[in-house]
Amino acid sequence: MKKEIKNTEYTLEKIFKDAKDFLPLLGTDYIEFYVGNAKQAAHFYKTAFGFQSLAYAGLETGLKDRVSYVLKQDKIRIVLTTALNSNSPIGEHVKKHGDGVKVIALWVDDAKKAYKETIERGAKSYLEPVKESDEFGEVVKSGIFTYGETVHLFIERKNYKGDFLPGFIKWDSDYNPSSVGLKFVDHMVGNVGWGEMNTWVKWYEEVMGFVNFLSFDDKQIHTEYSALMSKVMSNGNGRIKFPLNEPAKGKKRSQIEEYLDFYESPGVQHIAIATDDIIQTVRELRTRGVEFLSAPPKEYYTAIPTRLGAHMKIMNENIDELEELAILVDADEEGYLLQIFTKPVEDRPTLFFEIIQRMGAKGFGAGNFKALFESIEREQQNRGTL
Ligand code: FE2
Repeated sequence: MKKEIKNTEYTLEKIFKDAKDFLPLLGTDYIEFYVGNAKQAAHFYKTAFGFQSLAYAGLETGLKDRVSYVLKQDKIRIVLTTALNSNSPIGEHVKKHGDGVKVIALWVDDAKKAYKETIERGAKSYLEPVKESDEFGEVVKSGIFTYGETVHLFIERKNYKGDFLPGFIKWDSDYNPSSVGLKFVDHMVGNVGWGEMNTWVKWYEEVMGFVNFLSFDDKQIHTEYSALMSKVMSNGNGRIKFPLNEPAKGKKRSQIEEYLDFYESPGVQHIAIATDDIIQTVRELRTRGVEFLSAPPKEYYTAIPTRLGAHMKIMNENIDELEELAILVDADEEGYLLQIFTKPVEDRPTLFFEIIQRMGAKGFGAGNFKALFESIEREQQNRGTL
């Protein structure tokens, strides 16, 4: 097992100190996917991932060109949007990228100010501030482009009491599978192109006031065949964390390169969702047909006590159970974490999910990178894309 990667640069105190407060972010508001068939995607996220019906907009609400289903699980909201005609930019997006994340919406107190501050610092405009209202109050939205065709919307909803946003109606469904214990978005990772990582690190620092609080180079993240580089960006209160990946040269094609080839641009690689009982959550997801990456070899699990050292004293996990479910474990100075990664959730090998349970650790499972990437490479091998 590759030795744990330590990065002493990051502490929450440092993030607080270094981050700029011109863009206070209260959290992730929602994530919007552009998909080929939103009705079926909504069924998948309800059935497989335990999301609940929240809101709807489409022909019945006066829209002519699109349909959106909004789903919720604890603090997570996802929106699935599909085009209703052939000349829609939503359809163009799906044609180029396949199903994927279009919008990472951020909850702010002042969407007009968020727009002004980021535009002044060089952001490219996606949506000028616009006020929308219905009988439940008023929402202000604005938006800027980030990597690829992905956008950040700023959502100000302090004067709104509705279920989601004006223009949406409550979605009451007779089909309501139970939650699987997913709580909130822990982090969202972007894959950017060759040589572009530092450009986007600088962009998040300058335009959004984020801090780069953790970095891994290709000497740290590599297997026998492939490599990548990664830098983690965080906003000032640590609620929004965006790791950024860039491919690096290896003997074979790195998973980031494979993503860029199939998504046909930079974009969101994975969404990490927190649970406070990963055993229960993963058991349930597996029962419902969610596919995870295969388990690392047996030696990975027999080496856990040595790898975790002193953390074993506080670790209240059954290692056999972790192995049975293929859950990975890692530790840093502050505690340990448990994590597992799904296979891509669409046919293109692009977006996937991570399920994570943090037991004090603030890292991203660097000690698991090698095991994880070897598992991904086995998948690439099967796809003939390694
Ligand atoms: Fe992650």
